Amino acid sequence: MKTKKIIKRHEIAGTFRGCANFTGPLYERWRRARIAKLTQIVGGTGWFENKTVLELGAARGHIGNDISKLGANVVIAEGREENLRAATTKYPHLESYILNQETNWEEFFGDRVFDLIIHWGVLYHLENWEQDLKIALNCGRKICLESEVMDSDNPYLVGVRAEVGNDQSISGWGSYPSWATIERILSENDCDFTRYDDADLNCGPYIYDWEGVNQGFFAGMAGPNLPARADRLHANGSGGQRRFWMIENFHPRNIKEEK
Ligand SMILES: C[S@@+](CC[C@H](N)C(=O)[O-])C[C@H]1O[C@@H](n2cnc3c(N)ncnc32)[C@H](O)[C@@H]1O
Repeated sequence: MKTKKIIKRHEIAGTFRGCANFTGPLYERWRRARIAKLTQIVGGTGWFENKTVLELGAARGHIGNDISKLGANVVIAEGREENLRAATTKYPHLESYILNQETNWEEFFGDRVFDLIIHWGVLYHLENWEQDLKIALNCGRKICLESEVMDSDNPYLVGVRAEVGNDQSISGWGSYPSWATIERILSENDCDFTRYDDADLNCGPYIYDWEGVNQGFFAGMAGPNLPARADRLHANGSGGQRRFWMIENFHPRNIKEEK
């Protein structure tokens, strides 16, 4: 008989209240740093010409618009109506959809397979993050994944947190899988991936080049049995301890079933 390993869920800290300023200078710098890294990884701006790109959790569409300027055919999807409305008003040339990634969106885009899925800043705002990640893997040849994570090499560990705000979870709960949990799922689904723990991604409170020390809880939050590390505390109590991956998926639309 096969046994399934249970993922440990830790509730971390109190409710987080976020309110992103998607037009402020910090967001712009962070957006540019990630686009520069993505461009470097794919080998230059020329790669985007005529590629199909899906941006998930696209907020106000600024990233998708920047990518479309490089010649890509960009589709943006966002779960919050107020954000998508702002995106479609400012960038009417982008194909755009309301998509709640907590749902099973496997059939949402028919049998389309995108050359690239940009999955930035949204995984940790989902309760159904594992289902969402597997669906994304199924719909893209390359997936660029960026998320806050738990600092743990335990491949079965996930933090959960209540959160509210215009850039936070729609369900009211976010999930913080350890980087090792995410990498286990990528490996189990036959993906090749490279993680970029690079300082040139760092921007204000958003930090990528941190060394894993199995601290567990994410930056700025003291867990019940682990103090938050002073060097990872940030003024607004969140943001840091992020990871950035480029994933190559050789079998889109043919993902393995859970064993
Ligand atoms: C932190 S912002 C990130 C925006 C952008 N992707 C980036 O990285 O700059 C998170 C975005 O995900 C959206 N979001 C939260 N929960 C979602 C869900 N269940 N489905 C789709 N989008 C969601 C929020 O409305 C917000 O626009």
